[in-house]
Amino acid sequence: MSPSVSDKPPAEDSIANAKAALKQTTDEPSYPFYYPYHDLNEKFPPTELFEHTDPGTRADPAKPHLLSANTTTKDISPYIGTEITGVQISELTKEGLDELALYAAERKLLIFRDQDFKDLGPDRQIELARHFGPIQRHPTSGNVKGYPEFHVVYRDPNNDILKQYRGPNRLSGTQWHSDVSYEKQPPGTTFFFILEQPQSGGDTLFLSQAEAYKRLSPEFQKRLEGLRAVHSAVAQAEFSRKRGEPVRREPVETEHPVVRVHPVTGEKALYINQGFTRRIVGFKDEESEYLLKFLFDHISKGADFQVRATYQPGTVVVWDNRLTAHSATVDFENVIRRHAVRLTPQAEVPIPATA
Ligand SMILES: [Fe+2]
Repeated sequence: MSPSVSDKPPAEDSIANAKAALKQTTDEPSYPFYYPYHDLNEKFPPTELFEHTDPGTRADPAKPHLLSANTTTKDISPYIGTEITGVQISELTKEGLDELALYAAERKLLIFRDQDFKDLGPDRQIELARHFGPIQRHPTSGNVKGYPEFHVVYRDPNNDILKQYRGPNRLSGTQWHSDVSYEKQPPGTTFFFILEQPQSGGDTLFLSQAEAYKRLSPEFQKRLEGLRAVHSAVAQAEFSRKRGEPVRREPVETEHPVVRVHPVTGEKALYINQGFTRRIVGFKDEESEYLLKFLFDHISKGADFQVRATYQPGTVVVWDNRLTAHSATVDFENVIRRHAVRLTPQAEVPIPATA
């Protein structure tokens, strides 16, 4: 009789996996400098409007300062996502960074492998990201002591903020959103670098809001253009207050166009997301709920304009937050550390599409 599954000796690779998982849960974080920091006394004033010229407007469309003979690019899907090797972001000139902004707008999501970014130190990391706009200081999430520009994403057996945020009774942890879309000038070219990742799982889902817009009928597109929606930071602030964590700036509610135009490519994109968009301005409650439910369903079901970003040591993910929505996947056991940092340069006041 052949042995049952439980009789079989574990394969060598599963022993290695278990050891690696154990090591991750018992050791200290590899990058303790970036452990999430919460200072209840840290306060920020309300944001002020600023002039923004997108770096992508200065870029050479051929991108000679970004892509060289040593560069390999592989599109993950036709609509969104390109994986890039043979480029070191830290070595790019100003022209190269401009071209990166344009490329991110064109492809929506860029996944750079084998980067030294995580080891550059905070000042250089911030300097590079600042090329794309003033860096948002998150009003509630963990940051780094002395460096409020860093938004820390951290999960280990004792810290599972994603699970707490979505509540105990949800079927899935999927929550599509565009980062901090409640800001008057929401983020553009956004950087996310991984410090520690599980051996599998913990990917980020991304979708193209430009393709989501294109899929709609011309008549429906026309109906959406000119509409505005309210994006709210209130729930996020309330969640933080309940946990005894900081609310560094009073939460804002901001109206943005439902369809926005990218300042560099002129591409139109939906600008609604389940995370922060609450209602359509000027609609009765039921009308607003009906339309937003349709749009949220439309983007979340569009597997043919979605991709997954996977993480390896040294991966830096760059996306254009104006043209995308994303969601964490909480698909790994709660015994593994995942540690990453976001730098979130803010961009222009969203440009409305006109019918
Ligand atoms: Fe996010």
